Amino acid sequence: FLELTSTQEWGLPPRVAWDEPQRCRLLAGTVPAQVPLCRRNLELMPSVARAAAATKSACQGAFAAARWNCSSIERAPAFAPDLRRGTRESAFVHALAAAAVAHGIARACASGELPLCSCASSPAEEPAPGSRWGGCADNVRYGLQLGAAFADSTLVSGKAGRQASQAVRLHNSAVGRQVLSDSLETKCKCHGVSGSCSVKTCWKGLRSLADIASDLKAKYLAAIKVTHRLLGPRKQLVPKDTATRLVQETDLVYLANSPDYCTVNPQLGSLGTHDRQCNKTSAGSDGCDVLCCGRGYNTYTEEVLERCHCKYRWCCYVACRTCRRTVQRHVCK
Ligand SMILES: *[C@@H]1O[C@H](CO)[C@@H](O)[C@H](O)[C@H]1NC(C)=O
Ligand SMILES: *[C@@H]1O[C@H](CO)[C@@H](O)[C@H](O)[C@H]1NC(C)=O
Repeated sequence: FLELTSTQEWGLPPRVAWDEPQRCRLLAGTVPAQVPLCRRNLELMPSVARAAAATKSACQGAFAAARWNCSSIERAPAFAPDLRRGTRESAFVHALAAAAVAHGIARACASGELPLCSCASSPAEEPAPGSRWGGCADNVRYGLQLGAAFADSTLVSGKAGRQASQAVRLHNSAVGRQVLSDSLETKCKCHGVSGSCSVKTCWKGLRSLADIASDLKAKYLAAIKVTHRLLGPRKQLVPKDTATRLVQETDLVYLANSPDYCTVNPQLGSLGTHDRQCNKTSAGSDGCDVLCCGRGYNTYTEEVLERCHCKYRWCCYVACRTCRRTVQRHVCK
């Protein structure tokens, strides 16, 4: 469903537009498997399209400081090889996309946007002492159920030769949904005389997609390379390196090694890091040594304008002056 990122008009919320089933035919060229799904769930399509856009920005946010910065996702539906070859990067994107569509639907239910679902019912567990269940819980069950239909729909058809990549994709989508349901947390609001918090109303809500992306990034770093082969009666995903522990349901898995993304290589979907801005003092992935792959960097100074000397004025605004400051920037050679 990530293909929807490319169809700008799908991302916009005018719900009226979705009354016409013909609009689903727009999908025929890119994701034919989704046309019937679209017709059956017209009212979900704005949430699904928003989830595709949210996947893109959460992915770019999580990888802004890395050599691979998730920019090829913008070329959807013409995915570059970094996202087609069954690499670690595509594992991350598939898991995040599956989480995002379920997240979007769960939230849309709670906000009253959808006719067929609403807030989730209160949890069976006892509320914490001094609080009671109330508010409106994100409808994760509905989100997971319908989200799976969308995230996995492009997979239904396919040739036998693609069995391995489909198995990997299904596995990684399930990991994304697991991380999403684990991200449900109790949120509370205080009531009572002058903020005394003598009464607390609590509900179960999802963490932000950016938080989920950062959990998935940790799994991306620890992802396991696998092959799809017979293990007992059926084919399973088993670690390529036999010394590695068995694949768990919480591990991201991939089939093909990634390049180091240091230099341009269109065949591998690598854009290289030439001209990327790096941080001279950081020891992390945005540090100049790591980001520039040892090629060194150029430094230039830039003048930035900032608001400064801000003062509160009676009544009621803040007045600031504009200051100039020179900053040094470093870009990879
Ligand atoms: C990601 O890196 C590429 C290649 O260096 C660059 O052209 C692009 O602007 C970067 N994208 C983002 C979102 O930072
Ligand atoms: C560079 O990295 C250092 C250390 O991690 C950090 O404190 C600083 O804010 C970073 N600078 C920029 C411009 O991001």
